[in-house]
Parts: sequence; structure tokens; C-alpha cells
Amino acid sequence: MNYADFYQRSIATPEQFWQDESALIHWNTPCTQVLDHSNPPFAKWFVGGTTNLCYNAVDRWAASQGDKAALIAISTETNTERSYSFTELQREVERCAAVMQSLGVGRGDRVLIYMPMIAEAAFAMLACARIGAIHSVVFGGFAANSLASRIDDAKPVLIVSADGGSRNGKAIPYKHLLDEAINLSSAKPAKVLLVDRKLAAMELVAGRDVDYAELRAAHMDAQVPVTWMESNEPSYILYTSGTTGKPKGVQRDVGGYAVALASSMKYNFCGNAGETFFATSDIGWVVGHSYIVYGPLIAGMATIMYEGMPICPDPGIWWSIVEKYKVTRMFSAPTAIRVLRKQPPEYMRKYNLTSLRALYLAGEPLDETTSQWIYDELHVPIIDNYWQTETGWPILSIAKGIEDLPTRLGSPGVPMYGYKVKLLNESTGEECGANEKGVVVIEGPLPPGCMQTVYGDDQRFVDTYWSTFTDRQVYSTFDWGLRDADGYYFILGRTDDVINVAGHRLGTREIEESITSHPNVSEVAVVGVEDKLKGQVAVAFVIAKNAAEVSSDEQRAAQEKEIFAVVDRQLGAVARPARVFFVPQLPKTRSGKLLRRSIQAICEGRSPGDLTAIEDPASLQQIQNAVQNGLKN
Ligand code: PRX
Repeated sequence: MNYADFYQRSIATPEQFWQDESALIHWNTPCTQVLDHSNPPFAKWFVGGTTNLCYNAVDRWAASQGDKAALIAISTETNTERSYSFTELQREVERCAAVMQSLGVGRGDRVLIYMPMIAEAAFAMLACARIGAIHSVVFGGFAANSLASRIDDAKPVLIVSADGGSRNGKAIPYKHLLDEAINLSSAKPAKVLLVDRKLAAMELVAGRDVDYAELRAAHMDAQVPVTWMESNEPSYILYTSGTTGKPKGVQRDVGGYAVALASSMKYNFCGNAGETFFATSDIGWVVGHSYIVYGPLIAGMATIMYEGMPICPDPGIWWSIVEKYKVTRMFSAPTAIRVLRKQPPEYMRKYNLTSLRALYLAGEPLDETTSQWIYDELHVPIIDNYWQTETGWPILSIAKGIEDLPTRLGSPGVPMYGYKVKLLNESTGEECGANEKGVVVIEGPLPPGCMQTVYGDDQRFVDTYWSTFTDRQVYSTFDWGLRDADGYYFILGRTDDVINVAGHRLGTREIEESITSHPNVSEVAVVGVEDKLKGQVAVAFVIAKNAAEVSSDEQRAAQEKEIFAVVDRQLGAVARPARVFFVPQLPKTRSGKLLRRSIQAICEGRSPGDLTAIEDPASLQQIQNAVQNGLKN
């Protein structure tokens, strides 16, 4: 089929287009209206239709191909490997659902899942979907304060967690962080359900904490019917960073999400039932939600959940998994490929990778060198795809399942069906011409699968995403981009204070807030600085309250360490800046606005830009000196 026609149909007649797509999933009752866009920018898809994500991901396939592998949980941290067929997965999910019900969880209740990459995490997500509870998965690498702010916003009735995770063979205890987070939060959950992996010590709080294995044993034969959900009831909340320090709860629906995933599995990821999909992300991120748990299972594929590093026990580990499970489609992030590129190539060359049909990369810009290198090793299409937590599935890519259009190095591709992507001039709001830099926006209605709203705050949804331009209401991605004369887009970085470290999306404001809690920090600026391996790293510039305490290299090194520890404890090591530099002042405009972009430019050896508004130009030299001096140490 011709992609241009396919795309055009999705834009010209979206209701007809998505009605046809909706046949890819099972509906208990059909919808009465495909799209309700009477209250823009809010869009309701498949109004009145009832369905269930768990039914589509599990039961449907248990009935038709029950013996086929569904979930393959591999941990090179604990040296365990276990494959669950669709029938076994359904039984585990029903047990978990029964356990949740016994703890008082019902339709519309929130369940916060703070877990490592173990099968029970997927059981818990699917169990929530089954009974109509709203899950909110929090990345296991986040720590007490991050967790507490999410608990306060989601107000979960239940938290599901574990004694710990493991990284590079070292146990990472979770329980004390969880206890601290619950202490810090004002919305205390009634119950905490804990999986004991025997990795770390765990003391149960009487009356609140319960052991999963014990309760599961009491529900071995549980049969829990699926709760049919109206398409627009919420399925989950996933918190993501933005411009303010307060994370936004991206809320997703049931029916639209199921249809979008089913379509993208067909047209983008070209997955067939019975084959194996391997996404190397984590369930704490959107890629984990869409393409570890729901997407592949909805397509009837086996999905691999991998706990471990890409280079342990050796850099061949991922490729050994591809060979063993005959993975046909693999999904990863450019940083991981850059890590592998530094390893001796023999490790990947010793495996038979003939099952692999394509490698998908997302989450951060894919540089040409990395893309070319992995293509030369694998000889399969390397397919960049650009999207966000907010959209749930690709905005820009090449849908090889429709037409085998060529990819273009450095570009994620063209707008995906359903997305009216535009580039607007930042100041005039006018559409950009070819090769002109602008803000990447999407005209409403957003297609199925995209966020419905900010959880509990419709106004924030409108104010944050739909109010960048005054004369037209469009969704802003907060990314800069340009489009070449052939319609291929290029993504040029964020317009806001979000940074992207190894494909992990972090807010500089959150990191700044955390650093400010160190007793000797008076002011701080955190910026994202280009990094060859991770894409970007966070770098902090601190004005000390007591400058005498940071007057020697030894003192500065000691305080930098202390600040690392503060961030590790509050937000998690994932948010720890690469460096902390001490400066006498920070560059600001006369009205007091911090010039983050100028700081960033200096760190990257670029010109700091227009400085007419700067209060004291010497502040930039001080940044430069601090970096030069600091890098010597
Ligand atoms: O800046 C863009 C970048 O990551 C942001 C979204 O991150 P997150 O919400 O974590 O969702 C990741 C889903 C894959 C975007 O606003 N980004 C994502 N993919 C790409 C990208 N930048 C360049 N190229 C990409 N393929």
C-alpha cells in the first residue's frame, strides 16, 4: 500500500479510519460514537464501547494459542529465566487480581507499582487492567522524594513493591526507600503488597504490609472475570517530567490505547502472533508500558522482560537472547547501542541472529554513526521512532508495515497515521517552510492512545500542552524540529527544561529542587550537556551559602560528593548530575531569569547567544572558569 494515501485517509476521515482499526481488538460492546471532540482539546475515542486491556493482551490469546509463550522473564542479575505461556500468564494474572481484590482494590482505585523488572510487575499491571484499577508504575531507579510526590498525587489504595532490585550483581534495596516515601507522603496507602526476592532485608509493617507469596498461595485457583471498561475510563497514570518540579500524571484511556497499540504493532513493528518481541526498556518508562507489556501481548507475541545490564555477563547477552528465543523485532535506545559499540564485536557476531527482522530505536536522537554501525553489524532495517510518554506510540517513524519507504540517517521519519504534525515558528506561530527550525506541534484531535489529560488536573493539561501559541490551540511536543524538502523530520532538542540522559527523561527543575536541600547550597542551575555516550548528562552549577567551605579543590570535591548523595537519596541515582561546579554567581537576566541555555552553550563550547538582557556578563566567564578548573580535577 502507498503510505501517503494511508496517512491521508487517517487525517481526512479519522473516524472511518479508526473505526476500521478498532477491529484489531476485541470489544465486549461496540462504540456508539467513534470520536467525540466536542470539548477540545479533549478527545474521546470509541465512546460507549466496552473492552479490557488485559482481555486483549492475555485471555484472547490464552483461548486461541494458550500453549504459546507469552512472557519470558530473564534476569542475568539473579540468573533466573522463566517462560509463561498465555494460559499460565492468565492464571498468574488472575491470582494477582484476586490478591488485589482481597486487599480492597476495585474499579477506578489507584495502585502504585514500584518494582524491578520481574514477572510479578507485569502480573500486577495486567491484574489492575483486568479489574479496572488504575496502575501507576514508578521507575525502580527513583528514590524516596520522587516516589512520595507520586504517591501524593495518585493517592493509591495499594502499593505493590519488592524487597529490591539488582544492578551489576549488587542488590538495590527498595523497602527502606518505600517506607521513607510513605512517611514523607500525606496520602498513605492502606496496604503494601511485597514480593520477597530474598535480595535484601525487609521488615513488614504490621497491619499494612503483606507478603505476595502468602496471599498468592491462598488464591491459586482464583478465577477473576474481566471488568468491561468503557473505552474512556482511565487505564493508567504514568508520571513524567516537565518544566516545573512537580511531575505530571499522564493519564491514558482503555479502548483508544488498545487500538493504537494494536495498529502500531501491525504497521510499525510488524509483529505477528507467535513471534517474539524484545524491548530492552524498563516497565517504569512509557516504552515498557507500550512495548514490553501491552503492545506485544495484544499482538499475540511473546514478550521478553530482561533484568540486567546490556554487557553482563558479557556484551553478547542480548544477542544470545535474540538467538535463543528467535526474536523477530527488537526495540532499544541509542545509548545502549553506543555502549555496545565500545565492546569487541565478536560478542554479537557469535550468535545466529537470522530471526531478527528489524531493530527499533527511540527515546533520544539517533546519531548517524551509531545507526550505521549497528546496521553494518545486523544488516536489518534500523528504524528510528520519535514519540513521548504523552503520546504512548510513535509520532514520527517509517511504517514499514504499510510501505517500505527508505529511512534517512538522522531523521526519525515522517508523521505517523493519525498525527497532524506541524512545525511552527516560535515567535510568529506561522508554519515553517522546508529546512526551517520550529516547534513540533500536533493539531487536535490527538489520535487514539495519546494522553487524555493530566491526572486530576484538566486545566494543567490545557495550560501546559495546548497554550504555547495564543492564536491557535495546538499540542506542543516541546521539541524543536525541522522538515526537509521531502517531508522527513529532524528533531533538534527540547524547547523546555527537560533533559534526556541515556534515553531517560528528567526535569532539571526537580534536580535543582533536590540539590537546594543541601545545607550549603544557596542557588543552583542544572543544565543538560552533550555527552558522547549518554546523549546528555546533567551538570549542576551551585552558589554556596558559605563560600569558605568550597574554597579548596578538596572541599569542592567533598561537597560535590555530598550533593550526589542528596540526589541519590531523594530522586535516585538516575538523576544524579555528572558534575557539580561551584560558582560565585549565576548568569541571569536583569529581571532575574536564569539563563540556562547560555550556561548550556558555554559547557558545550558554543556561543552563549544574545546577551543583551544579561545582568552581569562576568557571570558567564565564571561558569567557563569553573568548568575548566573543575575538569582538571
Ligand atoms: O525530546 C524527545 C525525545 O524524548 C522525549 C520524550 O521522552 P519520553 O517521554 O521519555 O518518551 C520516550 C518515548 C520513546 C521527546 O520529547 N525523543 C524521543 N524519541 C526520540 C527523541 N528525540 C529524538 N529522536 C527520537 N527518536
